[in-house]
Amino acid sequence: TEIKRTFPEGFLWGGAVAANQVEGAWNVDGKGISTADMAIYKRNVSKSDYKKHNSMTEEHIQKAMQDTSDHDYPKRQGIDFYHRYPEDLALFGEMGFKTLRVSIAWTRIFPNGDEDKPNEAGLQFYDRLFDEMHKNGIEPLVTLSHYEMPMYLVNHYGGWTQRKVVDFFIHFCKTVFTRYKNKVKHWITFNEIDSIVRHPFTSGGIIPERFENVEQAVYQGLHHQFVASALAVKYCHEIVPGSKIGCMLTRLTTYPHTCNPQDMLAAFKANQFNYFFTDVQVRGAYPHYMKRFFHEKGIVIEKLESDDEILKTHPVDFISFSYYMSLVASADSEGMEKVSGNTIGGVKNPYLETSDWGWQVDPVGLRLSLNELYSRYEVPLFIVENGLGAYDKVEEDGSIQDDYRIDYFRAHFEQMHEAILDGVELMGYTSWGAIDLVSYSSSEMEKRYGFIYVDKDNDGNGTLERKRKKSFYWYKDVISNNGL
Ligand code: BG6
Repeated sequence: TEIKRTFPEGFLWGGAVAANQVEGAWNVDGKGISTADMAIYKRNVSKSDYKKHNSMTEEHIQKAMQDTSDHDYPKRQGIDFYHRYPEDLALFGEMGFKTLRVSIAWTRIFPNGDEDKPNEAGLQFYDRLFDEMHKNGIEPLVTLSHYEMPMYLVNHYGGWTQRKVVDFFIHFCKTVFTRYKNKVKHWITFNEIDSIVRHPFTSGGIIPERFENVEQAVYQGLHHQFVASALAVKYCHEIVPGSKIGCMLTRLTTYPHTCNPQDMLAAFKANQFNYFFTDVQVRGAYPHYMKRFFHEKGIVIEKLESDDEILKTHPVDFISFSYYMSLVASADSEGMEKVSGNTIGGVKNPYLETSDWGWQVDPVGLRLSLNELYSRYEVPLFIVENGLGAYDKVEEDGSIQDDYRIDYFRAHFEQMHEAILDGVELMGYTSWGAIDLVSYSSSEMEKRYGFIYVDKDNDGNGTLERKRKKSFYWYKDVISNNGL
């Protein structure tokens, strides 16, 4: 019989953004300074140097903390979503979005992070935002922590390295669960929780120069996030009736360079390490293979007696993940051609094309990722980031002919559908950067992911006018036919 290429009923089609990359208004209505407000756009930085340029130095932090302008700090400006969200939500509604992934900026609710009383103006902003989403028929999907935390906690508590920060974060979570319990049913704890090992500042508020043993600090910070995530699950279930809350992983599917057993082992280890983070959050305990890892690195994690019980008792309801590209591992990669990727690079795969930013486009890798994750855990999956960062051109008639983006999405949707036929339980799909936004890694504006074009360039020039790209109409059609 012919297979009908539609997706399950109620499939949550939509898009994703993060507060720090769209809102702007970095010092408005009582908002405190966050880690994302430290990021500058550096001209003439090669694409492979983004990683370096994101790891914050003491000198840079001191300077940025004093700097009150938003010039050179694109994340302080975003795309002015803080003021323009009604127009943007109307456009998402026009595309037929069932859901929109946003995050709440911790610093809007608790400017320093350690206050008792929340900032009412910040809470009201998200009330307006969620109300407006519902008005447009869009269910909010809310990330509690997406690449930002109060700078005050970085400077006074060493970021996530101190236990006290778990309490502050949980106070923040309880506050927003209580306030929005009737408006938000789908939650995500930490965006790409694994990323703290690759960028300790962005994900953990850890400034490397301030620690004697950075790795020790990173894994201690990660442990605190695991505990905070489990407690967030507990309180979400207690406070928000009918809620579902998930973890979020950067899925870094890795292939062996050859069938040489050493390459196989290298790829196996890379994948296993990537699963460490979901193993803890879904299975509720540190996996066996991490013992050797910690032992060999001399890392000793300080735990409270209750921690193991907390992790065990509050596993997540679903796994959400980002998927942009696949990687290749080799036991001996010296001299081999390398490519970049989402916060991590690897050996070039000769079978794959790369994006304008050198990320290896691999739709079949998405099917593999879905199958592997589902086979390992058998809990519902949610793709909450996927998309193509590309240079777009506005034609003379004002149109944007982004056929390359349509091709990218079509190929990935076909593989998603294959995975569903394979038996994978997939809740939904939110493309990354549904509207053009500030890039995480480089703070560029011209690395565009959106269905909606935003008139703003890397130097901050532009009217901020929104325009529908060709992919806008295409995605609208996909959604209205439920993927057919
Ligand atoms: C993910 C992040 O890692 O990748 C997003 O969760 C980020 O915040 C996205 O924007 C794409 O990365 P980039 O560097 O192209 O913005």
